[in-house]
Amino acid sequence: MTGDDPREERGPEFDVDSDSDLEDEGEGKDKRAGLRTDGGAAGADSEGAQTPRADGGAVDDVALDPWGSSTVSDYRKLFEEFGIEEFDDVLPEVPHPHYLMRRGVIFGQRDYRPVVEALQNDEPAAVLSGFMPTGDPHIGHKLVFDEIIWHQQQGADAYALIADLEANSARGMSWEEIDEHARSYLLSLLALGFDPEDGDLYRQSTNRDVQDLAFDLGAEANFSEFQAIYGFDGETDASHMQSVVTQMADILYPQLEEPKPTVIPVGPDQDPHVRLARDLAERMRFFKVSTAYASFELDDEERDLVARFHEELDPADFDDDQLRCVHVAETLEETPLAELAIDAEVLDSVLTKLNEAGMEPLRPRIRFSDRRATEDAFDALIDAIEGEKRVYENHIDAFEIDRADAEELAREIEVDNGGYGFQPPSSIYHRFMTGLTGGKMSSSVPASHISLLDDPEDGYNKVKSATTGGRETAGEQREKGGKADECPVYELYAYLLAGDDDEFAKRVYDECVGGERLCGDCKEQAAQLMKEFLAEHQEKRAEVEELLEQADIELESPRRR
Ligand code: TRP
Ligand code: SF4
Repeated sequence: MTGDDPREERGPEFDVDSDSDLEDEGEGKDKRAGLRTDGGAAGADSEGAQTPRADGGAVDDVALDPWGSSTVSDYRKLFEEFGIEEFDDVLPEVPHPHYLMRRGVIFGQRDYRPVVEALQNDEPAAVLSGFMPTGDPHIGHKLVFDEIIWHQQQGADAYALIADLEANSARGMSWEEIDEHARSYLLSLLALGFDPEDGDLYRQSTNRDVQDLAFDLGAEANFSEFQAIYGFDGETDASHMQSVVTQMADILYPQLEEPKPTVIPVGPDQDPHVRLARDLAERMRFFKVSTAYASFELDDEERDLVARFHEELDPADFDDDQLRCVHVAETLEETPLAELAIDAEVLDSVLTKLNEAGMEPLRPRIRFSDRRATEDAFDALIDAIEGEKRVYENHIDAFEIDRADAEELAREIEVDNGGYGFQPPSSIYHRFMTGLTGGKMSSSVPASHISLLDDPEDGYNKVKSATTGGRETAGEQREKGGKADECPVYELYAYLLAGDDDEFAKRVYDECVGGERLCGDCKEQAAQLMKEFLAEHQEKRAEVEELLEQADIELESPRRR
């Protein structure tokens, strides 16, 4: 990486909110509030460049539904309510960030840092995403294809899968339709640069390892959980549920040989799947590693409290120079609740535990709790722990090992003894594109989106008739500037047509909001670029036909119903 702050060179960022009418003047807290022309451009945050935001309560609810028609009207909610983290937090560390990252199209992530670190250090990492073959691949899918390909080029093991079981069970697609669409997705993926010799392609239905893994993972998931996460009910068929555990297996499949940081690039609608996969990865582990202070268990809040007192109290102040559980309990009882800044319940619970432990010394230690370990693995771990340790029925306490080493040791023992040792999978999230007709991009409204199979001339025409963020009259546009951040045509430039050329994307933006660019010419240029892109892409698709035939994936399902 260069020492430059990549933010300096960033192109504009986008806001693809479709419900802009719900927005009013925000306090500018959200730096995603509209397209920011940073990087020292004259007129940064110029009039009209700022999309005003709703102040919290006014926006509609965000529901993340993998099988619904998700639109996201307020990306902030994804951070606040669902705990998705901002991509900007990791961006400065990403080597050669993709333009979708630089421009804020990829806006969110979960735990992406381990993947970034692996890429930086040439250590094993993987990328995987899946596609439901329900129609023709379109420019929204291209984002994900590009993300997979970029990670492959950065050195990650790359996986792309056809979610045929899911398409069949959740969308009722016939196997014939599935085969036709699957082939088409794969051609576009290859045409855009995926290297099938160096990457893995598979379909859910014929990957025996995925199905075995799905069965294993299913042991840690139950119906109540599916109900809570996906709204499944008594009418939900079992195949649909199987497609969920299959997706869980897809997500963890790259780690079957060995645990490694894995990123799943998806739209935010898939976040419920990512969260469940992260949970399951954890539940499959042989050992849980935690910090403890005595024989009893503490939850996070309780542990923080005890840790604080352990730090503050000096053993020399007590009878035999030993800090014991009762001592902490006594001190806690003397401290006003307000000073502790915790709930009375937490205090109660901690006091009970400390008093019950009584004269037991309070000493920090690493605890390895047995979750799914085999007996052999448990014994092997006992042997492997160096220094002072105590062995209990279901856990081992170690006094001379640090947390990071403990995590590594636990994983090593697990893998050596036939466990998976999964790392929680990471994810990155891209924004949904606005439909060309305004509103959302929908595969059922052909004019709203551009299929990668569209005749280049049709692509040209769709762009020409797209809605824009332009003003009523050319005069008004010259005076006030266009609303690029509400313009689907601008999105096309930023997400696709400008390619890697940040200068170009920024120029279009600046010229638009500065009133120098008028929609007619702007659309003509975009339409022309779209036509060229489609023609070129389709040519490449034809060229990679043979490559696909040679690739290790069944293009035809034996099933026919
Ligand atoms: N459920 C995804 C969709 O609706 C497809 C999918 C299946 C997937 N398995 C996956 C996506 C694994 C990411 C990772 O498009
Ligand atoms: Fe959109 Fe271009 Fe018109 Fe600006 S000039 S509003 S970017 S079509």
